[in-house]
Amino acid sequence: MCGIVGYIGREGQEDARDVLVGGLENLEYRGYDSAGLALSNGDLTVVKREGEVTELVSALEENNPGAAPVGIGHTRWSTHGEPSDANAHPHTDCSDDVAVVHNGIIENYEQLKAELRADGHQFESETDTEVVPHLIEAALKRGADRESAFRSAVDRLEGSYAIAAVFEDADDVFAARQDSPLVIGVDEGGYYLASDVPAFIDHTDQVLYLEDGEFARLTPETVGISDADGRPIEKSLATVEWDAEDAGKSGYDHYMLKEIHEQPRALRKCLRGRVDGIERTVDLDLELDDVGGVHLVACGTSYHAALYGAQTLRSQGIPAQTFVASEYTRSSLAGQSPLVIGVTQSGETADTLGALRTARAAGARTLAVTNTVGSTAARECDQALYVRAGPEIGVAATKTFASQQIALHAFALWLGEGMVDSDQIDALRTLPDHVQSVLDDSNARNVAREYVDASAFFFIGRGYNHPVALEGALKLKEISYEHAEGFAAGELKHGPLALMEDDAPVIAVVTGDDERARKTVSNVKEVQARGAPVIAVTDGRSDVEQYANHVLTVPETEPVLAAVLANIQLQLFAYWIAAELGRPIDKPRHLAKSVTVE
Ligand code: M6R
Repeated sequence: MCGIVGYIGREGQEDARDVLVGGLENLEYRGYDSAGLALSNGDLTVVKREGEVTELVSALEENNPGAAPVGIGHTRWSTHGEPSDANAHPHTDCSDDVAVVHNGIIENYEQLKAELRADGHQFESETDTEVVPHLIEAALKRGADRESAFRSAVDRLEGSYAIAAVFEDADDVFAARQDSPLVIGVDEGGYYLASDVPAFIDHTDQVLYLEDGEFARLTPETVGISDADGRPIEKSLATVEWDAEDAGKSGYDHYMLKEIHEQPRALRKCLRGRVDGIERTVDLDLELDDVGGVHLVACGTSYHAALYGAQTLRSQGIPAQTFVASEYTRSSLAGQSPLVIGVTQSGETADTLGALRTARAAGARTLAVTNTVGSTAARECDQALYVRAGPEIGVAATKTFASQQIALHAFALWLGEGMVDSDQIDALRTLPDHVQSVLDDSNARNVAREYVDASAFFFIGRGYNHPVALEGALKLKEISYEHAEGFAAGELKHGPLALMEDDAPVIAVVTGDDERARKTVSNVKEVQARGAPVIAVTDGRSDVEQYANHVLTVPETEPVLAAVLANIQLQLFAYWIAAELGRPIDKPRHLAKSVTVE
């Protein structure tokens, strides 16, 4: 997904070029296909390249623009026009006096482009963004100053945007946001601008979040923030609670593996101060009365967490339904006034934000369950429940999924309002240790080696293990590029059984020894009878091991938490398959960490 970075140094401070390149490297995890930057030092130099930031760095060495105190940079993930040097950001006006970077989509760009062309403007890219510098140029020609020209251009835009602009011969950066995040970093050396905090976390943890409809002007001495009418807005600095070390790989080969291993700590943080072992209560800092029903809206991995959350809510007697966010419409709310929960680690997923806005427009109360303080979901919803997983850099969601599961489970117990069964409380409090023991003892790496050449992978589970089966398949497919599908175990015989082959393992998640576990064991026998190898993920309470070629074990615990443990084994299995295949695990092809288009 596109990323923005900007910098303006106080006198004698760092060269913007180094800060911007570092910022773009820090944003690489978001996924991108081209990168560029604009430096202003009296002259305006724009250098941009299709491909990785390293290509851009080589191009900068060839061009040698010289030291510059001011600049903006961008990593692009194509939406309008193919990945190419011409389509890469920044984009400039006809006379190369202003350079612009943009995240989001300008919906009325064709109309604006036609208008500008009719006035003689020449376009060099297929992007929607390029209309912005030309609109600014047109306003400057009409006599506007830089700030008014920037504002009047932004006023013409329909759609979503985070925009930054720099001018030739001027030491300021202009920015505006609408439905796409922008944050300003502040330190003694200067001011930073970015779509995500990791871009500048090496420099500062002091930030100002821009809201929709706000404008900012960064100069070497100050940051001025104002509303759409130009009225100044006072903001207080917020402190980001993680540092550059947190965002590093800490010796692991990939962020994903590091983040899988961070899960005990993430879960401890998620539970801290929320579960009282003596009073046997769950206390969340939320105010919600009379919740008659819940809708959960989410995408991808977060959707799987939402499916799990809906089951835990129903187990507390609270009606709960889960919706793929992009399928959520006003009619989904017909005749109901549910609490609508957006489950989104980034808090910026356009489909989920769209569903939440639909809910708000219909008068529903909304709650964001998110990992990102200050994210759009957190700010737009009535309340937010933070999952506290810490920064997650790998595109594949791992620790945020486990933290979402537990935050939603805690939410269900809290909404259930009674004293919680002491077994449940004990199991929650020992969960991080159980996760640690799965990580310490897992043989997923060895099992993965056996199946690296498999033609496909099928995952099955029932109850709480159904979303885990779906998540196991998603994780494997996104990082290994192997075909993987997840099913409710009972659905196997209604079609997928036709796919069983001796080189396509079935990964069966079977925990507990209840009716559901017994039925899943029957499904495993059906699979085995058709020649498919079976990998059982089990706590050993059923007899599934007898029918399995390989076993991945988890400690015994409450059924709702066994599903969390089973998922850790599936994460490791996916990771080791992808590692054996030599895939770029942290940045899978075609995917992005934060999907801010619908
Ligand atoms: O930031 P979100 O949780 O809203 O993201 C939703 C999905 O885009 C995300 O979970 C995606 O499926 C991940 N790549 C899964 O690993």
